[in-house]
Amino acid sequence: MQLFQALTVGSAALVQCSTGLSAGGPTYHRDVAPIVAAHCVECHQQGGIGPFPLTTYEEVAPHAGAIAEVTAGRSMPPFNLDNSGACNTFAGARWLADDDLATLDAWAQAGAPAGPAVAPEPAPAPAWQLDRVDLTLAMPEPYTPDPGEDDVYRCFILDPQLDHDAFVVAFAVRLGRRSMVHHLTLYALDAAEDEAEAAALDAADAGPGYTCFGDPLVPSRWLVGTGPGDPGGRLPEGTGLRMAAGRQAVLQMHYNQVHGAGSDQTAIDLQLAASVAHEASVKRVEDAYLELPPGRPAVVESDTRELHEDFTLWGVWPHMHDLGRQLRVTARGPGGDTCLAQVNDYRFHWQQFAFYERPLHVRAGDTLQIDCTYDTTGRTMTTSWGYGTADEMCIGFFYVTEGLADPR
Ligand code: HEC
Repeated sequence: MQLFQALTVGSAALVQCSTGLSAGGPTYHRDVAPIVAAHCVECHQQGGIGPFPLTTYEEVAPHAGAIAEVTAGRSMPPFNLDNSGACNTFAGARWLADDDLATLDAWAQAGAPAGPAVAPEPAPAPAWQLDRVDLTLAMPEPYTPDPGEDDVYRCFILDPQLDHDAFVVAFAVRLGRRSMVHHLTLYALDAAEDEAEAAALDAADAGPGYTCFGDPLVPSRWLVGTGPGDPGGRLPEGTGLRMAAGRQAVLQMHYNQVHGAGSDQTAIDLQLAASVAHEASVKRVEDAYLELPPGRPAVVESDTRELHEDFTLWGVWPHMHDLGRQLRVTARGPGGDTCLAQVNDYRFHWQQFAFYERPLHVRAGDTLQIDCTYDTTGRTMTTSWGYGTADEMCIGFFYVTEGLADPR
């Protein structure tokens, strides 16, 4: 009881302080700089993927109105999944608390006052680093995308040269040119035919690697990836993804050259384990029969899949192309409906795996339903399923382990 009271008083004080109500409205140095350092500077810094730096009062103040607007609309910081708690919460979600939104709004309304400086200035979180690197996979040579194209998707075949199976448990990316790399994904090739297919694509395309939108265009298995601006991370504790001895991998790079072109040679450092408690795999729920009529603001497509086994779901990656706006995955079972993923305002550029703060269980007999909503007002012809930029998809990828694992 004592503890409960202390906590209540403490959090009330915190709310007051962070919304700045106690002392005449929020100021930059005391109230805004900590939010920006924690949630924005990783991208909005010199050489980062954000269009302008947000590291000093002089840089932030002119954008005060835009900052209040994009944060209120939750388009910044960018994160596709709803993290409000209505449909799960995610580890490391790029998501501002409602109090922070109120602070940024009040600060902009008040004319973006600087307020007295505080020392030390809030620093961005330290960059992610691996405590041990077991394998480095690097692009074999630098690649220079066609500077005339804003977005370039390129796949590079890499050879891990493993002489025994191993499990990826953590990774860190070392980007060659940070301002140009939008996101990257590493896939495993599990069969000689798939390697041969990838080699043929590579041989048919001039220059290093081959053009590949969406995925490597050959049967392949997701290993790790980063969304824009991410340095890497650790897969959920106790889980890992198999890399088979002797097999190759494909690194898919998405380059966005709006903020600078040039050449890139990126590497991924992997931390491996000889075994893991739960071998993970990526499974999907999808609606692959899309026929989207043109000229409609909200075309909904749905499909269901019945489960024949129990699974633990550790993470989700919602995937559509440019027309996708909302996506939801629901599990239907005897106990009722469980929301697995909810995307309110999908943006193609910000897709990545997000891991649940509390992993979920789904059971044999449950039905998973996916609903994808598209805006086709800009199209004059029917849009269907496919790998091209102008085609569409409707997929929920899940990072799963078999059985009902006790996540703690
Ligand atoms: C993961 C990287 C990343 C993070 C984190 C991020 N931004 Fe951005 N931001 C971008 C990129 C890239 C753009 C330009 C492309 C776009 O608008 O999506 C952008 C654009 C903007 C814009 C201009 C929007 C417009 O409509 O032109 C504002 C304002 C902004 N960000 C503010 C913020 C604020 C405030 C935060 C933190 C609360 C933040 N951003 C966090 C990458 C990021």
